[in-house]
Amino acid sequence: MKKILIVDDEKSVRESIGLILSNTYEPLYAESGEEAIKIYQDERPYLTLLDIIMPNTDGLQVLERLKDIDRSAIVIMVTAVTVLSTAIEAMKKGAYDYIQKPFNADELRLKVDKAVAAKDMVNEIRFLRTEISRKYDFENIVGNSKAIQDVFSKIKQIADSKTTVLITGESGTGKELIAKSIHYHSSRNNKPLIAINCAAIPDTLIESELFGHEKGAFTDASARRAGQFELANEGTLFLDEIGDLSLATQAKILRVLQEKEFLRVGGTKTIKVDVRLIAATNKDLEKATREGKFREDLFYRINVIPIYLPPLRERKDDIHLLIDHFINKKSPNRKRKFSQEAMDIMLNYHWPGNIRELENVIERVVTLTPDNLIKIDDLPQNITNETKAGLMKDDILSGRLSLDEAISSFEKEIILTALEKTNYVQTQAANLLGISRRILKYKMDSLNIPTEREKRE
Ligand SMILES: Nc1ncnc2c1ncn2[C@@H]1O[C@H](COP(=O)(O)OP(=O)(O)OP(=O)(O)O)[C@@H](O)[C@H]1O
Ligand SMILES: [Mg+2]
Repeated sequence: MKKILIVDDEKSVRESIGLILSNTYEPLYAESGEEAIKIYQDERPYLTLLDIIMPNTDGLQVLERLKDIDRSAIVIMVTAVTVLSTAIEAMKKGAYDYIQKPFNADELRLKVDKAVAAKDMVNEIRFLRTEISRKYDFENIVGNSKAIQDVFSKIKQIADSKTTVLITGESGTGKELIAKSIHYHSSRNNKPLIAINCAAIPDTLIESELFGHEKGAFTDASARRAGQFELANEGTLFLDEIGDLSLATQAKILRVLQEKEFLRVGGTKTIKVDVRLIAATNKDLEKATREGKFREDLFYRINVIPIYLPPLRERKDDIHLLIDHFINKKSPNRKRKFSQEAMDIMLNYHWPGNIRELENVIERVVTLTPDNLIKIDDLPQNITNETKAGLMKDDILSGRLSLDEAISSFEKEIILTALEKTNYVQTQAANLLGISRRILKYKMDSLNIPTEREKRE
């Protein structure tokens, strides 16, 4: 049961309040301000009911002390009608509510329940907020490579400033994760982080989405609506895929960045905002600038702090760590690992979808493999095939394998696949491979590929 501290110099008042609340709460009693402060420190009640007029310390002073001890203390002042003005002063000093003597039981219960619910909500929001920001802690952004370590130190340096950041990198390299991490490492982290995917909003709507609109600004505008720039005030606005914005919208964004104010669509009143902008794109903006697809002035305005996330294939050191991280995340209670051969494949695959692709592959493999040891055969075929060819190339170039041997083994594998696909009907397999049946037979002989009959024997 939640503890409620009842502070009043009159015993009868304390007891009657206690009686009213004791069904749902655990009452604690203090008969003076000093005692209240002591009990507050020791017991940390969920809520305090505080009489205003008491001998020695008066309620207002006690309120201030409680607020010093705990800024989020919820205090309901209990007051006689005659000192209503003091109750109002108490509200200004941070009391949550007040109740007048004499009060009836229902009124008291209602006010207390409401205050408790408000505090529950504040606690929950605080909890969720730490939960969310924990997700963007460096601990949960995996990487030991120099590239990612440089990104971490850059984030630490710039998180607290208001400078615009431009994050670039191929799809799936972690741009959004890094953008959010910057916000949660900044002093704006208790203010909104608003993310917009510019590529997902049609050009006709983007202006009203970003800047809001007044009622009647266009046919569908039946009510006034605040835009994302307004909602992000004092916080961070993350413009994802900024390279996809039209030149007209780019011009408007540039203006907000320079003037720090804008008009809603159809509006006449300028709105001032304090917003930190983080932009991301997988396009080459410099090239787009040269081609006239991206405004040069906007590019320079957002490219103040560039952060480049290299593709996963260029930070092989991180693949191992990421694999462990995702395996742990998907099946935290089991000791699963990749066989050496399977790990080699994973390390050498070129990961066009980067970390997102790696995460999906792990999820799939972990779900579909019953065994704790994940072997080559458990990996998706596109990854094994492609990587085997790549590994073979390395073997040839480093002299471990001759070109002839490599070609033969490659040929053999393809012919076997074709035969399996066609149930060993050689004419069909030859067709599939674009060669004559005679040549297929010749190759099967020289590569020691058995026919179906030979296989059975
Ligand atoms: N260093 C990392 N450590 C752990 N997880 C990561 C890391 N980088 C990215 N991820 C995860 O990979 C996935 C893809 O990341 P994210 O969405 O940030 O990529 P992106 O660059 O924005 O991709 P796109 O260009 O396709 O939008 C997310 O689930 C993210 O949590
Ligand atoms: Mg993204």
